[in-house]
Amino acid sequence: MTRITITALTVATLAAGAALAEDNPRPEGLAALGPPPIPADNPMTPEKVALGEKLFFDPILSGNYVMGCAACHEPAAGWAVQAPISFGYPGTTHWRNSQTIINSAYYGKLFWAGASGSLEHQARSAARGGVAGNGEDDMMESRLAFVPEYREAFREVFGDDWPSVRHAYMAIAAYQRTLVQTDTPFDNYMRGDDDALTEQQKRGLDLFAGKANCIACHSGPLLSNEAYYNTGVPPYDGWDSDPIAQITFRFELYAKGSTEEMYRTTKDDPGLYFRTKQKADKGKFRVPSLRYTKYTFPYMHNGMLETLRDVVVFYNNGGGENEFAENKSELIQPLGLSDAEIDDLVAFIESLSGEEILPDIPDIPAMEPLPTAGN
Ligand code: HEC
Ligand code: HEC
Repeated sequence: MTRITITALTVATLAAGAALAEDNPRPEGLAALGPPPIPADNPMTPEKVALGEKLFFDPILSGNYVMGCAACHEPAAGWAVQAPISFGYPGTTHWRNSQTIINSAYYGKLFWAGASGSLEHQARSAARGGVAGNGEDDMMESRLAFVPEYREAFREVFGDDWPSVRHAYMAIAAYQRTLVQTDTPFDNYMRGDDDALTEQQKRGLDLFAGKANCIACHSGPLLSNEAYYNTGVPPYDGWDSDPIAQITFRFELYAKGSTEEMYRTTKDDPGLYFRTKQKADKGKFRVPSLRYTKYTFPYMHNGMLETLRDVVVFYNNGGGENEFAENKSELIQPLGLSDAEIDDLVAFIESLSGEEILPDIPDIPAMEPLPTAGN
């Protein structure tokens, strides 16, 4: 009986799919976005997410009590910093463009060059990193312990007598797993709503999956195959004229263990090389998702490109040139797109963003002296 039902259903689905495919074929290799993976050792609860949200907006986990996560991932700025290179911890500048954290829950590897394997680990790097939060574990834990609301919340969510900074990162990660967008016009189109994309966006989708071959790298539900390529993004042009940027960059080269020669002479971000130390990986970056990019300008690891149209023009010209030209991907070739086709492609990329995500910022709880013995 069950078997017959399944067969009947399958036939009906196939028939619907065939009709859909005939009028408006959906390209292979792209898909609507489902719910994000949740790691078994950090399950989601509403209380944990609420705690993580406060810790994300509270500067309490940064060295100077100013550089919390939200300083560089501001909701009204696409949950990033709307500047080519992010500012950094006072006395430094950052050396890369700040990334949006919308949909970061789906990546297997985080950061522009995939240096971090989980949101939990990533939050720790961000809070402690010398050019980001510059926080120190013991100091951060003491601060948390001096906030009665946090003492209570860490006890309730994690069973902590004294808030543990490791648990703080778990709560922040859980909060970030709620910052996803799965109902963009593109998603609705892929789920079967033929009217979710405009005619121009449908033409853009055809180019994306066809003539422009963006799909070679921007594929799957995330529009990223999560591999690493050098697309020839040229170096950050403020580097030569800004001593603080040069110092920060040398600090990173040193901290990440590059050679003495690179430490002295490199002017360009070697990307994946930092992790692998393979010459062939110089200048390679993780393919970013194209979701939510309507709000996350400027673009690329160093924010060199201001608008989505600039990005499409960059690809139409066959990418750019950087210090590591020998590693440039052969998939990046001049495309010969007309102006109208460039507009179509931009319109399609815009369909990968839904409404802007702008939540109410939570109240940040106050510190109080610790109760002394006998109180
Ligand atoms: C000083 C600015 C700054 C602060 C503070 C900061 N970030 Fe970031 N964030 C960045 C920059 C810049 C990048 C890209 C860095 C890179 O690739 O090396 C980034 C990348 C990320 C990513 C990776 C996204 C992706 O697509 O891979 C996540 C997630 C993230 N930050 C979360 C956080 C959290 C959580 C905090 C607080 C604990 C935080 N950030 C604090 C600037 C900052
Ligand atoms: C060879 C693989 C590859 C191909 C093909 C490719 N991209 Fe990319 N794309 C990347 C990588 C890698 C980056 C990040 C480069 C960097 O920051 O240095 C990127 C970055 C982008 C960004 C910036 C995203 C952000 O958050 O800053 C956009 C937009 C984009 N690509 C759109 C496209 C479009 C449109 C096409 C087709 C015309 C395309 N890409 C073709 C690999 C590719």
